[in-house]
Amino acid sequence: MTQALRSSPPDVPSTLLGGLSPAQFMRRHWQKKPLLIRAAMPGFQPLLSRAQLFELAGQDAVESRLIVQQGAGWTLRQGPLSRSKLPPLKQPGWTMLLQGVDQHLDAAHELLQQFRFVPDARLDDLMISWASDGGGVGPHFDSYDVFLLQATGQRHWRIGRQTDFSLQPDVPLKILSQFDPEEEHLLGPGDMLYLPPRWAHDGVAVGGDCSTYSIGFRAPQRGGLAGELLQRMADELQDETLYRDPRQPATANPAAMPVALRDFAVDALQRLLADRRSLACALGEVMTEPKPRIWFDEASGSWAPGALRLDRRTRMMYDEHHVFINGESFRAGGADARLMRALADRRSLAEREVKQASEDAKSLLQDWFEAGWLHPTLNP
Ligand code: SIN
Ligand code: CO
Repeated sequence: MTQALRSSPPDVPSTLLGGLSPAQFMRRHWQKKPLLIRAAMPGFQPLLSRAQLFELAGQDAVESRLIVQQGAGWTLRQGPLSRSKLPPLKQPGWTMLLQGVDQHLDAAHELLQQFRFVPDARLDDLMISWASDGGGVGPHFDSYDVFLLQATGQRHWRIGRQTDFSLQPDVPLKILSQFDPEEEHLLGPGDMLYLPPRWAHDGVAVGGDCSTYSIGFRAPQRGGLAGELLQRMADELQDETLYRDPRQPATANPAAMPVALRDFAVDALQRLLADRRSLACALGEVMTEPKPRIWFDEASGSWAPGALRLDRRTRMMYDEHHVFINGESFRAGGADARLMRALADRRSLAEREVKQASEDAKSLLQDWFEAGWLHPTLNP
């Protein structure tokens, strides 16, 4: 990770945010209102050529989609998309989308580092779209915050707060039935548009060779998170206490659920939830779980304590008592905790830090090195 690609400190004005500091952006815009930023990344150079984008779309490991608009009709095809499945470049009205590019390309992961003024727990992925002239995905809304960075060509955006979220029937995409745009903006390379969740938007490529990078965020859904946490906590629970009913009278209604059994169930759940440490572990494990379809390559070389960096696919976070990495949790305190927090925040450690680490910390780092979760830094 290079210093230049870190996010600005919270109170320092940032070109990326149109002169706002990250703190001002979070107070004024995040989850509240859009922000158009001209020249957010002046002189921005695309991370991948068109040929490289098309090559990625053909890979099994990369999630890709092709959207073609012809007349009033839309078609959607899921990848992998070999070159022969893509329409000719000159055919107007088509878009190819690549999801999670940061998981496959270090440069894309580096780009996301500039957005770490938002907690890692909220950052999702980098999606790249490529569109021919007139291509787009139709007027829609997303449930999550997004920064739309124009990489090549031009895109005409129309955006608006929407009250009617009904969708067109019989279309393979989520397209609004009635879109009421309030603003429009033409974005060129390096320009960026921030949209909060549920702001309707429609971006249409102007002139072809239009690529847009979506820096996307995630937010856990309450019911789903509760389910995942309970499952993990229950799996860890070492409580084999059996329900007992020595006072159960003989019953004339054998199908009726005993009230005492319901109370036993409530008590079981309350005991589970009362274990705040187990809850904290489960939360960290859930939030750092690698994405589906992601595998790490086990280390081929041998471990020697030295400067290191996290693999781009590694998710690492911490709380007051734990360190979480790729779906696992570890208790950490004192100097070990400080070291692991530095690694999680900076995603790298200097040689001196690793050499001075405790034997326990070194042994964990070695395990993570062997699993392919971190790598030696060749040119620290
Ligand atoms: C696109 O890049 O074409 C679509 C991005 C979006 O609207 O979320
Ligand atoms: Co969108």
